[in-house]
Amino acid sequence: MSQRIKIFDTTLRDGEQSPGCSMNLAEKVELAKQLERMNVDVIEAGFAISSPGDFLSVKTIAETVENSVVASLARAVPLDIDRAWEAVSGAKQPRIHTFLATSPIHMEYKLDMTPEQVLETSEAMVRRAKGYCGDVEFSAEDATRSDPLFLAQVFDAVIRAGATTINIPDTVGYAVPEEFYEFLMKIRRHCPALDSVTVAVHCHNDLGLGVANSLAGIRAGATQIECTINGIGERAGNAAMEEIVMALATRRDIYGAQTGILTTELVRASKLLSRITGVNVQPNKAIVGENAFAHEAGIHQHGVLKNKKTYEIMTPESVGFKANQMVLGKHSGKHAFRTKLKDLGYEVSEDELVVAFEQFKDIADKKKLVYDRDIEALISKRLAEVPAVYTLDRFVINSGNSITSTAVISLIKEEKVYEKVSRGEGPIDAAFKAIEKIVGFSINLEDYQLRSITEGEDALGDAFVKLDAKGGHFTGRGLSTDVIEASILAYVNAVNKILYEDSLVS
Ligand code: KIV
Ligand code: ZN
Repeated sequence: MSQRIKIFDTTLRDGEQSPGCSMNLAEKVELAKQLERMNVDVIEAGFAISSPGDFLSVKTIAETVENSVVASLARAVPLDIDRAWEAVSGAKQPRIHTFLATSPIHMEYKLDMTPEQVLETSEAMVRRAKGYCGDVEFSAEDATRSDPLFLAQVFDAVIRAGATTINIPDTVGYAVPEEFYEFLMKIRRHCPALDSVTVAVHCHNDLGLGVANSLAGIRAGATQIECTINGIGERAGNAAMEEIVMALATRRDIYGAQTGILTTELVRASKLLSRITGVNVQPNKAIVGENAFAHEAGIHQHGVLKNKKTYEIMTPESVGFKANQMVLGKHSGKHAFRTKLKDLGYEVSEDELVVAFEQFKDIADKKKLVYDRDIEALISKRLAEVPAVYTLDRFVINSGNSITSTAVISLIKEEKVYEKVSRGEGPIDAAFKAIEKIVGFSINLEDYQLRSITEGEDALGDAFVKLDAKGGHFTGRGLSTDVIEASILAYVNAVNKILYEDSLVS
């Protein structure tokens, strides 16, 4: 019988901590819904005490998700634990995840605590968390640089205090698989109580070994793996969920273990995260990269045509890749559009359907062929949408290589038209500056990307911006066959997110 491995996803906590990966409330909720859809066992929704925004997102996710456990991280201090409970108490299956460092270097320089104090504090804080919640996880931060006998002592104490999951993280990505396996086995030998709880591993990727170490953890008896979509996370990231899930599915003969993850949702989760953060995976990224199933060499293509298994150890369909089919045209009706969305796995409300259909018709008018990828871009842009304070009315751009670019932008807010003119270093810069003048607060453009969704001269342009304003980072997307319009729409989309977030926290 194969061992069931729980997947603990920390994309919204450890992942979100990584540079360039911050998300707003609506985006976090959308990602949490995708994690639930793919059967993730535990969603670490955030670190409730770290900011009012984080608290709100953990609480909202806790109240939204039904089928996965929802956890909040908490340092081993009373206020953190109380706040974590406040945030997750509305969940159907809440968890408090508390942690304290156990390595000599962290105890001495970061915590200024003796090992005895760490032992006592861990036990006391797990007991406090247990007073609130039946499901308590304890992590020994920097475990792999800790004394395994000290860890055994700490784990014994926190299990007696009520911890139901013990996590053994490789916080700095220092371990190598053979050593990690032996290390875990040694702790298990000295702490038999570990047999009565869930043992987890949480491996960072500083040496590129996050997934390999997680798999070594499974061989040593871990039944919960902590990981992130696309492997995002602090520094070099965390172990990538899609790689662990597919390694276990493909090499069941070696590991004799399986997860509950719906593998056909892996690509959608990866793309959703990239769309939200603007951080794309490299083309050769295992499992979810654009080229993960591409065969370029003639000799490979020849083999694959005869028998796919010559060069494919898993099928692209099994992870959720679909052929990019031509779908609908400008004469397609709402019914066909709804059926297509369903085929692509999107459930939308009647109201959302009406708006999305209008946008589809707009695109179909400008583009000869509309592909699955165009529809997916349109729908996924609409996910995590916030109320639009500003909408684009019209724009006029004057640009050339011998003149200074100028932009005239009109936006509508509450049925009133606001128009401004600005000069800039090129048409996009001029347009963005004119919008900044209209909204009246200072905005810094951190990132701007433009790509086409499909091939061909009438391809849909997908613009992405990341703005720094009012103390936060906000992303925006815009779609149009006109790349300047796509860019303006992306900027306005991000501005609306800034205003929405501002209204929530103020
Ligand atoms: O890497 C780490 O040790 C962590 C803990 C808080 C679990 O993220
Ligand atoms: Zn971590």
